[in-house]
Parts: sequence; C-alpha cells; structure tokens
Amino acid sequence: MTSRVHDTLLLFGATGDLSLRYLFPSLVHLLRDRLLPAEFRVIAIGRQAYDQAGFRAWLRERLGEEAARHRAAFEDLLARTEYVAVDLSDAAAMTAALARFADRPCVSYLAIPPHLFVPTCQGLQAAGLLASPSRLVLEKPIGHDLVSSRQINATLRSFLDESRLFRIDHYLGKAPVQNLLALRFGNTLMEAVWHNRWIESVDILVAETDGVDGREGYYAQYGALRDMVQNHMLQLLALIAMEPPNSLDADSLRDEKRKVLRALRPMSAGDVERDSVRGRYQAGVVDGRAVPGFSHASDCETFVALRAHIDNWRWSGVPFRLVTGKRLAQRTTEVVVSFKPVSHWIFDRPPNGGAVPNRLLMQLQPEEHIGLGLMGSLAAPEWGATELQPLSLDLSMVAPQRRIAYERLLLDALHGNQALFVTGEEVEAAWSWIDSISEAWQAATVPAQAYPAGSWGPAQADQFLPVTVPASKRPVKTP
Ligand code: BG6
Repeated sequence: MTSRVHDTLLLFGATGDLSLRYLFPSLVHLLRDRLLPAEFRVIAIGRQAYDQAGFRAWLRERLGEEAARHRAAFEDLLARTEYVAVDLSDAAAMTAALARFADRPCVSYLAIPPHLFVPTCQGLQAAGLLASPSRLVLEKPIGHDLVSSRQINATLRSFLDESRLFRIDHYLGKAPVQNLLALRFGNTLMEAVWHNRWIESVDILVAETDGVDGREGYYAQYGALRDMVQNHMLQLLALIAMEPPNSLDADSLRDEKRKVLRALRPMSAGDVERDSVRGRYQAGVVDGRAVPGFSHASDCETFVALRAHIDNWRWSGVPFRLVTGKRLAQRTTEVVVSFKPVSHWIFDRPPNGGAVPNRLLMQLQPEEHIGLGLMGSLAAPEWGATELQPLSLDLSMVAPQRRIAYERLLLDALHGNQALFVTGEEVEAAWSWIDSISEAWQAATVPAQAYPAGSWGPAQADQFLPVTVPASKRPVKTP
C-alpha cells in the first residue's frame, strides 16, 4: 500500500561511510531522474562542526567523480541540503537543533551505530519529528541476538508503531533479488515444480573477494553468521522458500517470509559437525594481489557454511545449503536449485543413473544470469542409440544499468511502501535460528578453520559448495 509522499529526509550519519558510498550517490541519481518530490530537502546530520559551505565543499570533494559525472543533479542536491552538526547523545541539543524541521512530515534515516538509536529517537521525539505520519528508517544490525533485538524492537515501538518503522536489508533493494519473485510467481513452470516432490536441494552462495579491512572492530563482534546470514542470506532463503503471497503488498509478502523463518529447524550441538563449517581467512592471493589474513584476537569467523532445514509441508527433506565468506576466490551471489532425477530411465546412454539432474541457476551479482541445465539427445542415425547429453539453456542477458539498491529503498521509504523492508517479527525469527547455531557452536566448541584468502574456504566446506564451483578450484583436505 502506498501512502503519502514525504519530502523531508533527515539523514543521521551524513558524514559516515554508508552515506558517502551509497546514500548521497543514490539521491544524486534520483534527482537526475526527477524521481523525488518537488520540495524535497535533506537535513544532513553529523558530528563534525562544518558550516554549510564547509559541508558542501567536503561532500563535493568526497563524491569526486560521481559529483562531476552528474554535475547538475549534484548541485541540485547541494541546494536542497542543509547540514546540522549535533551530538546525538544530547537530547536537549538535538531538540534545539532539529525542532524547526517538524513543519513537515519527515523520514529520519539512522545511518549510525545501534547504540545511538535510542538517544537519537528520544531527541527526535522531543523535537516532534516522530509524530505521525513521520517515519523512521534503520540500518542493521538490529541487535546481536534474539534478546537484544527484542529489546531494540520494543524500544522502537515505544516511539512509533510498526507501520512507520522501515528496517533496511539492502539485498531487498537489489533488482536481481526482486527478480526472484518475478521468476517464481510469474511463471507457471517454476511454481509447479517448486516443491519437495521435485526439488532435491537448494544452494545459496554469497561469495566476496573483499576482506574485513577497516571494519575489524564491528566485524569481530559479529562474524559472518551475524553479519551476512542473519539478514541477507535468510532474506534470500525466505524469498525462495515462501508460499505464494496473495499480493505483493507489504503485509502479504512479509507474513509469508516470516512463516519460513519461523519454520527453520534450530541447530543443536549434535548437528553442528554435520551441518556447519566455520572458517577464517589467512594470508593469500586474491585477484592476483597478496592480501594479509584476518588476525583479530577474537574467535569470529569470516566464512560460514550451513545446512538448513525448513520444517514445513513444502520443504520437508530438502536441504538448503548456505555458504558465505570473505576473501573467497570470486565475487558471486547465486542460487542453485537442483531437481530430483527422473523417476524412470528409458535410455541406454548414459546408463541408468548417469543423467545430470536438472538445475536452475540464478546468478544475482556481479552478473545477472539464469541457466537451466537440461538433458537432451545428440541423436544421429550412426549412433544407433539415443544418447543423452547435458544441455544448458543459457539466459545470460545484458542487464540494464542497475540502480544502487538504496535508490529503490529511499524512494519506498519516502512513499511509505514497506514491502521491501523487514518487520520486527522477521528480524526476531531470524535471530532465533542464528542463536541456535551460535549456541550450538559454543556448546560443541567449533573452531574456525583456516582457509587461504583467494580460495573457496576451508576443506571441510567442500560438500557445502554448489556445483557451480569447479572441481579443480575446490578446497582439498590435507591428510
Ligand atoms: C553488508 C555486510 O551488509 O553487506 C558486509 O555488512 C558485506 O560485510 C555487504 O560486504 C555485502 O553487500 P553487497 O551488496 O556488496 O553484496
């Protein structure tokens, strides 16, 4: 459901990394394409004591090429932006500095560390900036576990109700991720076989070549399980596994995702050896460049492989393998759906059982590609028998220039469309499953296995990797 468009964006953390890398560039693109309301304005809030000219000069310099490439839109953004320096832990100072912007309903975007959420909300409330119909946008992490996420959600709801809370998972803003919905629910062919009767297993791989560099403090507290699986990977899993929603409105879509997350079977200490691998990268070579290992004193993992089970009618017995890691051999995000073998084999060659199962591969980034593995025949009279060979239906398309995920999310927040934002219940259901894993790891003292940067993870993870990782590149177990 789309409600009224707000035209005031209060951007907290305006001088931070997220704003510079994604939020300001997104706003430039949206202004370039005239997608923002006529009276759109940005209140950029940071700690640094810039005056207006100082902030503009700083932003111009930091956005560099991006600002130069879209010169007119960037100047337009500057003209619409007012910088306010304020200490977020001082509610009275916040009220004094921000109350004058309560003349119009606004969207407050908290691109700030979670410990500042509560004092910032207190200041916003005192300044009248959380009064209905104003909205609040939050970045992850929403907590560190179920208990802390519940506390944060309860506190947020004491300031404003769920219908005005927008929790970001930027994967949901990615067009190729939304395409998963289109493929699943726009095609009879897919939905008809999307079931444990026909599907053998599902792989979700999010491999990164980047390391943790520069974020050691945050990362050491979270590790790959909390940084990637709790949010992005479980959102992908939920989109793949959910029941068909009766419409794409926020409630229908998010209810179905929540049900999947709640149906995840908790992991126990007895399962972890079979169903999980933790890893941590050591020095190695990535894209031809020597890189150091992750050497933080904490025990956190930079790689995780999991076998998840969804205990419901549709997915009973179908393993979902989730693999993510930093400093892996290649950057790729993909989903591989492997189908069951045909029920009766009538061909001589390959002999029974030698067929390659049908597979649907959906690569979401960096390239967008859909591949369907089929069996076909090379029938020719001289062969005398029908011999089947794997055939690949390759739907690589030249994708249109994709937008930054945040462009869509910023627009939706201004328009009040929550469909691509995560509910508190989803967040808590995800944490509940993640907690079962971290507790099981602790109980069973599961160490993070070393893997060289530039590889496909620790040797123990081989059986979790999708078939798209070539045999020659797979990690080898040392005797
Ligand atoms: C972030 C994680 O949420 O997502 C990062 O904190 C990770 O560690 C990033 O690198 C991956 O996002 P993308 O869009 O590059 O796949």
